[in-house]
Amino acid sequence: KRNREMEKQGLGCRRVVLVPCPLQGHINPMLRLGTILHSKGFSITVAHTQFNSPNTCNHPDFVFLPLLSDDSSSERNDSDDFVVFLSNLNLNHKASLQKLLTQIVEQEQEQHEGLPCIIYDALMYSVEEVAHSLKLPSIILHSSCATSLLSFFAYAQLREEGRIPSQGSKSMELVPGLHPFRFKDLAVFDFKNEDTLLPLIAILRNKGTSSSAMIWNSMDCLEKSSLAEFQQQCQVPNFSIGPMQKIAPASSSSLWEEDHSCITWLDKQTENSVIYVSFGSIAMIDEKDVAEIAWGLANSKQPFLWVLSSGSVNGSDSIDLLPDDFKETVGERGCIVKWAPQEQVLAHHAVGGFFTHCGWNSTIESISEGVPMICRPIFGDQRINSRYISHVWRVGIELENGLEREEIEKAIKMLVVEKEGEEMKQRAANLKLKTQLCIQKNGSSYDSLNELVEFIMSL
Ligand code: UDX
Repeated sequence: KRNREMEKQGLGCRRVVLVPCPLQGHINPMLRLGTILHSKGFSITVAHTQFNSPNTCNHPDFVFLPLLSDDSSSERNDSDDFVVFLSNLNLNHKASLQKLLTQIVEQEQEQHEGLPCIIYDALMYSVEEVAHSLKLPSIILHSSCATSLLSFFAYAQLREEGRIPSQGSKSMELVPGLHPFRFKDLAVFDFKNEDTLLPLIAILRNKGTSSSAMIWNSMDCLEKSSLAEFQQQCQVPNFSIGPMQKIAPASSSSLWEEDHSCITWLDKQTENSVIYVSFGSIAMIDEKDVAEIAWGLANSKQPFLWVLSSGSVNGSDSIDLLPDDFKETVGERGCIVKWAPQEQVLAHHAVGGFFTHCGWNSTIESISEGVPMICRPIFGDQRINSRYISHVWRVGIELENGLEREEIEKAIKMLVVEKEGEEMKQRAANLKLKTQLCIQKNGSSYDSLNELVEFIMSL
């Protein structure tokens, strides 16, 4: 019925084809965007790889079309080099996407519908060439924040100018003109092969000027100046419509089964007492780190919910690694699961802190629920996010010296019992309110979303 009403308003016929990058932290924002656009009357088609293919049952209103790979052996994310993984992903799905989009265009023309609009994840950069060849408008969805992308660009420039200090990723020196980042925060240093990374940064930069527009799962109250700067640099319309998970509650787009028993466990805990621990879907930690986290949590004496997914620890099944005496020590005070319904966890009244790797989705989900963070960034944009969390929004603390049990214990105690933690919680609560205002009528994300809808209709 809703779509019929939309059709009357002339909105119903426009098809949007979404091309997500097949990683959890990228599938979530793309399918959330799909849910939002569907609620605005658009028809949604998802062109997805067979590797990490989304659960189609959770989105009965979308059409899912698989993309075939020219070389499925490279369709895994266990490559040593993330950039090589991305390059294979883009190369191997290009022909199939071309075929699929050609078919969609023919169908739409037969039915006298307008041309579809393509929205693709920034990391699926080859989509744009295909869209251009078919004269289809294309829009980029960024799964990270504008500040992190600007920092990557700045890093590439500094490299070009030979202005990177010799200590590289260890340098505490402030990056000129890039407050509040130190060279150490420009996480790109840790990539194994910078020779492949720099061309990727260049691609991301160029796409900024050749697509029709950009969408950010971000908002003015978090990074207004970075969003404005990005807009100025790329000169195509930018729409910041976050936090998307709060605009149109989407069905789960989890690639793994969520263990809901942890919600029953949370129900039994006291308000604001639980530390939720998760390092997202791709970051890997070492066996030694597992032990440090375990003892840091045990010694803090706080209840905790820990996501220890299989495959998240280098070379072993993570849960088997937990020391027996640790399990005896914590007993019912700890709940360990392989995958949690994260949004529900963060919204739970028992959760008082999030020990996180600072992926952008986790960051924005935590901020939206007013949960302060303990930050342990691992790679990519995570250090940039972490620095903003701890030094700009001041709603978290960063573990500067790696994963050490004493430091973890100290950070948890600071968050839960000390005055500094209390102030941090207050700031997190204030920031939550600001994010709520962004999506309310006349808020920046609310307005930006309406502009995006109009923009897509005008293409
Ligand atoms: C990746 C990158 O690592 C990150 O830096 C980038 O900003 C986005 O893409 P990932 O590492 O998986 O993402 O982290 P994050 O961005 O936090 O996304 C993880 C998603 O999985 C979140 O939406 C979170 O809600 C969900 N999740 C995580 C669960 O649903 N259950 C869990 O147990 C853990």
